[in-house]
Amino acid sequence: MRTPLPSLKLGRRTARLPIVQGGMGVGISRWRLAGTVAREGGMGTLAAQGLGQVTDLVPRSDPRSDPHGLEALRAEIKAARELAAGQGIVAVNIMMAISHYDPLVETAVDAGVDAIVTGAGLPMDLPDKVRGDVALVPIVSSARAARTITRYWADQYGRVPEAVVVEGPRAGGHLGFTREQLTAPECQLEALVPAVAEVLREYGDIPVIAAGGIYQREDIDAALAVGARAVQLGTRFVATEECDAAEHFKRLVVASTAGDITVVRTSVGLLGRVLRTELIERFEQQQFPGFKCQYQCLKSCVAHQVHYCLADHLRDAAEGRPEGFYFVGDNAWRVREVLPVRELMRRLVEGEPPA
Ligand SMILES: Cc1cc2nc3c(=O)[nH]c(=O)nc-3n(C[C@H](O)[C@H](O)[C@H](O)COP(=O)(O)O)c2cc1C
Repeated sequence: MRTPLPSLKLGRRTARLPIVQGGMGVGISRWRLAGTVAREGGMGTLAAQGLGQVTDLVPRSDPRSDPHGLEALRAEIKAARELAAGQGIVAVNIMMAISHYDPLVETAVDAGVDAIVTGAGLPMDLPDKVRGDVALVPIVSSARAARTITRYWADQYGRVPEAVVVEGPRAGGHLGFTREQLTAPECQLEALVPAVAEVLREYGDIPVIAAGGIYQREDIDAALAVGARAVQLGTRFVATEECDAAEHFKRLVVASTAGDITVVRTSVGLLGRVLRTELIERFEQQQFPGFKCQYQCLKSCVAHQVHYCLADHLRDAAEGRPEGFYFVGDNAWRVREVLPVRELMRRLVEGEPPA
């Protein structure tokens, strides 16, 4: 018999389980995945970027008339909340690096989302943009970043984050580390979590959510033992029936071996962990197809200097095309089957079945 896991309180909402499904863009965590995770008692996170081009709820937006996909975001949040049926927490992940960050935040709040999670930069003025009791959750990769944002919010706005996600170097997607840091002991989750928890303790009772490489119940126990109050998973939620990505992505995860997982520098300028595909190999050999920027979706992206559109390749992955950029965590090779979210969450609580 395992010890019961604690619940996760975040502002006005409480999730029965301290299990967070991390935001996965473009189009990997949409309303179905996020709503189901919330319904099963966790926190489900929609990824806001590029929703206008992947949603199945409203006509796909024309990059010229609705470049930000605001209608799609509104519809996706509504659908996720309906599916959650009052259970758990429905959050939206909006990357700081996105050029239309402000209207996305405004739309998410207006659509009644419970929490806004922000990575790819520190959201210094986020409290200024959000009315009401929406929980604000920055993602950090160091104790220093946790201190910078929390101290600034406390000084400027007299408030602190409702929780902080600490993402370590084993995560899928973009990483907040240099190549040297990926294996440095002080950057691993077991060192980062207590360091961030110690910083946050100065500012009150702020839960730390540990992310990156969490695979099973034992990892949850280990994260809680070093000071986390919840965990965030990405890759295992890709391999669920309710994940909004195409079957092809799920099959690639299930079929992957440790040797298929690699870390590359993407056109955003950050390292990212991906499945090694033919496309990745061509890119590593500097073979690029050429492209035309349709969205100017990232503030820092200088379209004529980068060699490919990451947003397009992420959408290709969500839709299961060979030219997809398939983000995965370093545990992807351990995933052996696609499960219903309910069964995955049961295993995360009760343990994996014997092999
Ligand atoms: C396919 C994929 C897409 C992701 N996209 C985003 C994203 O858009 N924004 C973000 O903050 N994190 C993103 N992440 C990171 C996840 O939210 C999560 O923190 C991470 O996957 C945790 O590590 P794990 O995969 O080892 O569980 C992504 C991860 C994956 C696997």
